[in-house]
Amino acid sequence: MRSLRTGLSLTSLVAGLALLLTAPAAHAADTPLRDLGTAKGKVIGTAVTGSKLTGAYGDIAGAQFSSLTPGNAMKWGSVEPTQGSFNWTEADQIVAFAQAHNQQVRGHTLVWHSQNPSWLTNGSWTSAQLGTLLQNHISTEVGRYKGKLAAWDVVNEPFNEDGTYRSTLWYNGLGADYIANALTWARAADPAAKLYINDYNVEGVNAKSTALYNLVKSLKERGVPIDGVGLQAHLILGQVPSTLQQNIQRFADLGVDVAITELDIRMTLPSDSAELAQQKADYKAVTAACVAVARCVNLTVWGFTDSDSWVESTFPGQGAATPYDANYAPKPAYYGIAEALGGTSTPPPTGACGASYSVGSQWNTGFTGTVTISCSGASLSSWKVTWTYGAGQRITQAWNAGCTQSGAAVTCVNASYNGTVPDGGSVSFGFNASWSGSNPVPTVTLG
Ligand code: XIL
Repeated sequence: MRSLRTGLSLTSLVAGLALLLTAPAAHAADTPLRDLGTAKGKVIGTAVTGSKLTGAYGDIAGAQFSSLTPGNAMKWGSVEPTQGSFNWTEADQIVAFAQAHNQQVRGHTLVWHSQNPSWLTNGSWTSAQLGTLLQNHISTEVGRYKGKLAAWDVVNEPFNEDGTYRSTLWYNGLGADYIANALTWARAADPAAKLYINDYNVEGVNAKSTALYNLVKSLKERGVPIDGVGLQAHLILGQVPSTLQQNIQRFADLGVDVAITELDIRMTLPSDSAELAQQKADYKAVTAACVAVARCVNLTVWGFTDSDSWVESTFPGQGAATPYDANYAPKPAYYGIAEALGGTSTPPPTGACGASYSVGSQWNTGFTGTVTISCSGASLSSWKVTWTYGAGQRITQAWNAGCTQSGAAVTCVNASYNGTVPDGGSVSFGFNASWSGSNPVPTVTLG
């Protein structure tokens, strides 16, 4: 019968493809965030836990990010738990991993009120002793990684919400100039590392960020080495400050770099699809604000997976704050970052399987068809596809499925050997059918 083929081209028939919930390409085909960032002049980072840098966690950390920040490993309490006795194991491991993956490292953090060793916080020190302890700490740690780190969060969280200085071991013992001194000591220990002051709730224009702005301005006027400000960006769902870009810009205009250093966006658990969609919009907005300002040089998430986030243990009832779920599947938030960086990927429908119908070749009395069942984020162990023919078409023969037709209604079920459709996979079956008059493509239903 094929000798009776008309001149209809195959391609014009395939153009009649009916798509229903067809799964898009696998995630692996998406351009990694680090490459999208490079194209925009942005370094894309994540906080990491050194002991986890193997398997899927290590694969994603290495493939998707161009910067690592040790989540805890470089804090004073981690590196010098007992006075004079140092533990660099995890910090060294993270630096080695970064070097092996052509990544920057942001050192975090040298001077903070939190996560200090108890020998330090419980000691009673004169101002002079405290200054010597701090100088030695900075010289030792910055010196150890001299030439290997792109940046240091030298001072972390120096301000209260109203813009006054936070009352800490350092402020109380050394006065506000502990900040200038720490920066100067850090510069001496590694002249190549960019030196930052880092804080939270300074993402929008407010009293706290204005205090930071005034501090940076005065440090620059005094010739104190300061290269950048870190906006931590531990945000709440739906609350990206409207003045984020304006705030980044005003720091840039002061002549310093800006980094989004600890981005996460938390929500009330359990998360639902509406929250995850809002989170995508929020991640996209933050990334877009950084993209819009040339001196916003680095955007770092504070843990890339919900299984490695500080949020759930810190904010009861809140979580799901990172771009990957606890099983390392990218969430809509991941695609929010990617899209703001110019990526064109679209998130796969979560937990969807679907079927598509296409006409292959067609001749004056018959045609061949193919139906493909695809799954993404879900799987099937058996399947049934149904459709209704609108113009008298009749199935004459099927392969790789059992098809029956009653009137216009067609039902096809899997063969004994192809009922399984794995997550990310597909199964196809084919058929011959007759037609006359017209051959419209039906809507197919899976299930
Ligand atoms: C957090 C870590 O992620 C947790 O593992 C740890 O228990 C507490 O500290 N601001 C900072 C980070 O600058 O160092 C904090 O990291 C999160 C808030």
